Amino acid sequence: MLVLILIVVLAAIYYVKFRHSRKLLYQFSETLPNVGDLPLIGHTHWFIGGPERILNNIRKLVEKIEKLDSVTKIWIGPSLYIVSLNPEDVQKILENCLEKDYSYKFLQTWLGNGLFVAPVDLWKAHRRLLLPIFHNRIIEDYIEVFGEQGNILVKTLGEQVGKRPFDVYEYVTSCMLDIVFETAMGEKMDVQHNPDTPYLRARKTVMSIINMRLFKAWLQPDALFSLTSLANVQKESIDATHKFTDEVISKKIATFEKLSHKDGRKDMLQLLLERKLAFSNIELREHIDSITIAGNDTTALVISYALVLLGDHPDAQDKVYKELQGIFGDSKRVPTKEDLTKMEYLERVIKETMRLYAVVPIIARTTQKELKLSSCTIPAGVGCAVVPMVLHRSKKLWGPDADSFDPDRFLPENSVDRHPCAYIPFSYGTRNCIGRHFGMLAMKSILATFLRTYKVSSKTPDRLKIEILLFPVDGHQITIEKRL
Ligand code: HEM
Repeated sequence: MLVLILIVVLAAIYYVKFRHSRKLLYQFSETLPNVGDLPLIGHTHWFIGGPERILNNIRKLVEKIEKLDSVTKIWIGPSLYIVSLNPEDVQKILENCLEKDYSYKFLQTWLGNGLFVAPVDLWKAHRRLLLPIFHNRIIEDYIEVFGEQGNILVKTLGEQVGKRPFDVYEYVTSCMLDIVFETAMGEKMDVQHNPDTPYLRARKTVMSIINMRLFKAWLQPDALFSLTSLANVQKESIDATHKFTDEVISKKIATFEKLSHKDGRKDMLQLLLERKLAFSNIELREHIDSITIAGNDTTALVISYALVLLGDHPDAQDKVYKELQGIFGDSKRVPTKEDLTKMEYLERVIKETMRLYAVVPIIARTTQKELKLSSCTIPAGVGCAVVPMVLHRSKKLWGPDADSFDPDRFLPENSVDRHPCAYIPFSYGTRNCIGRHFGMLAMKSILATFLRTYKVSSKTPDRLKIEILLFPVDGHQITIEKRL
């Protein structure tokens, strides 16, 4: 009994001290409007349940916030986040808060100081060093790879012609893995023919554990997580993925002098080594891992959502097909840079797909100094949540038909008056997606090859879930018929 009383007293002292040390934060929080919170637990109850329920809750909560038309707060456990749906505020947050939020630390266990999660000082220096390898001129050398892998994709999909609905994402993600491995590190993995290797299994395991930690509050403290069996599984899987990339890097270091005299396409790792940057082998691995992870599922998801949307909108699919016929005629060639530039309607389809399905549904940053927003000034050290999945479907910003599919929203004449932060699939500001040009070219090339070969039918998915990215609960189900 005495021990229990002692524990309660100590916990109470700790709580009072903890509250006192964060007095200013609580005072600031008091100035913001309340929506959907409960005494003591704040908004934590909205984040309990499976990935579908959590996604629906986040949507509902942020839509309530939108109605208030003011910067609003969300308390998740002891963490305070501010949310605003005002594009002016979003712009200020993304331009000024370059530090990623605390929640990205679960990814840091895996990606270390790779660009995606690096602390801001290191990020500034490394982003400058990495930018040249994402230059349009370099990325355009990879168009050949997009074409080759697109051809393998349509060939592999032959087994599904005329059959029952199947999840096309499984095929597209293998294709994108082959593309990112070949372009980022020169590895021909042939995932499209061998989708189940120990390395790929380890990658999937790490991602699912990190996702669990993001949304299950009891798995978040390191002390509690390390007591679970997941901690060991995560460590073994992370070690396996690191070992894989380390071996690729060692192999490349052994051969790069010889390869640097060769003309033609060079992978990103080769280019980094040739530039003789002061990256250690660990830093190289962290960057290459970040690029292959950030570049794969995102792009594969957008391609799959675009196919599902086109399958449900035959008029739009016919328009894409006509555009492609106009470019390729009877030629079976893979898309060139010039071909990709001509695919204007397909580009609008992709943009509209990324509006309706913001595959990176939430971006979270932290203020490093005071930041003045439309209705208040945020102190340093506060989380800022930007929610593209709600922003992109806001009726205030996109009109009463915000939920419907209309690629012509992205015609230049229909986009002139749009705030640049009403649409942010690749984020905004200097910490935006470094791979957006790569992603756009790859998506156009794969979709063009797919849609020249197959006619797709489907129904747009209405049940979605959040697993770091935005997934349909039942997959991207489509059926395909061969075009004549
Ligand atoms: C449709 C495809 C893609 C989408 C929607 C997308 C979206 C995003 C978003 C929203 C961010 C910012 C995330 C945040 O601040 O939390 C980001 C960052 C990043 N993306 Fe992409 N991305 C795509 C494709 C790619 C590709 C193809 C690559 C590489 C080949 C890539 C590499 C990266 C990297 C390295 C970062 C971190 C940048 C930094 O912090 O400086 N992404 N991406």
